[in-house]
Amino acid sequence: MECFETQMRTDPTLMNSPKTHPPGLLPEPAAPRDLVSIHDLAPSEILTLFSLTSMLKQRPADFRGVLAGKQMVMFFEKPSLRTRLTFEAGMDSLGGSTFFVDQTASRLNARESLYDIAHNLERWIDLIVLRTFSHAVVEEMATYADVPVINALSELEHPCQALADFFTLQEHFGDLSKIHFAYVGDGNNMAHSLLLAGASVGAKVSIATPQRYGLNPVIVTMAKAIADETKALLRILSDPRKAVAGADAVYTDAWASMGHEHEAEERAAIFTPYQVNAALMQLAKPNALFMHCLPAHRGCEVTDQVIDSVNSVVFDQAENRLHIQKAILVWLLGGGVGRFPARSAHA
Ligand code: CP
Ligand code: NVA
Repeated sequence: MECFETQMRTDPTLMNSPKTHPPGLLPEPAAPRDLVSIHDLAPSEILTLFSLTSMLKQRPADFRGVLAGKQMVMFFEKPSLRTRLTFEAGMDSLGGSTFFVDQTASRLNARESLYDIAHNLERWIDLIVLRTFSHAVVEEMATYADVPVINALSELEHPCQALADFFTLQEHFGDLSKIHFAYVGDGNNMAHSLLLAGASVGAKVSIATPQRYGLNPVIVTMAKAIADETKALLRILSDPRKAVAGADAVYTDAWASMGHEHEAEERAAIFTPYQVNAALMQLAKPNALFMHCLPAHRGCEVTDQVIDSVNSVVFDQAENRLHIQKAILVWLLGGGVGRFPARSAHA
C-alpha cells in the first residue's frame, strides 16, 4: 500500500493557494494513494478533507465535471444500500463513470489471484473500490494496483463511514477536539474506524463493548499512537453507562455484522445491556446526538424512541456519505486536498 505522505505537508505553499483553477484542470497527484484505513490519513489531512467536503456540499456545481473521463470499478462481496449509491451518485455528479461488480456470489479472489486482478484493473480503470470480508484483500489490492484503492467496508474497518460521521459531528459542534464521543456495542469495523477517527481529531472517545467482543488490539495501539500526537483522550471500557456519561454523541452499530448473522441470537443475549434506549441516553448530555451508520436493527441495538428522536442524526450521516466520498474521489483522482483553500464547515 502506498503510504499517505501529505502533499500539503511537503509543499506548504499549496496550503493557502487561491482557488483559481476551473475544477477540470486540477493536476494529477504525484503518486497513487489509497484509503484502506483511517490510519492512512494524517490528522491534519482529515480536517482538510472536511473543508473540501464542506465546499462540495455547499457548492456542488463548482465541481461538476472535475472527474470527467475518470472510471471507477466497485467490487462488493457484501450487500450495500448507502455505500454503493453514494459512490455511484457522487462519481456521476463529478463527471466520472462507475462499473459495479456484484461479488456476493463468490469471493473476489476465488477465480484468479489478487495480483493478477490488480494488474488487469490498473490497465483499464482509474480507481478501485472494494467491500470485502477480509481486510487483507483490500490491503493486498492496494499493494499490487498502481491506482488508488478505497476500502468501502472490510471486517476490520469502514473508513468512509467514520469520516462522514466525524464530518457530521463537526457540522453540529464545530471544534471536534472539544467533544466527548461515545460508542457502545460490538468491537467491530465501525468501532475501529471511529476510534481511529476520534483519536485523529483529538476528541475524547469512550468505547464500551462486552469483554468477548472487544476491539482489535492492533487498532487500539494505532489509536493510542495517534492520540499521543493529537492529545485525544481514549477510554476503552466494558460498562456502557460509564462510556455514555456526559457524552455529546452516542453511537451504536449492529450487534451481528455482515458475515456474523448466524451468531445473532447468541449475541443478542450478551449485548442487551448495550442497547441504546431512553434510559441510556439520559446519562449523556442533554440533547446529546444519537448516531448509527445504518442499517439499524430497531429493538436490538437501538429503540425506535431513540433513533426517531429529534436528536437522532442518522440521516445526516447517510447524506454526508455522499459529500465525504465526493471529496475523497476528488482528492485521490483530481489533485491534492492542499490545493483547496480551507474553509469553515459553517461558512
Ligand atoms: N452504512 C453503510 O455502509 O451502509 P450500507 O451497508 O448500506 O452501504
Ligand atoms: N458493522 C456493520 C456495518 C454496516 C454498515 C457490518 O459490517 O455489517
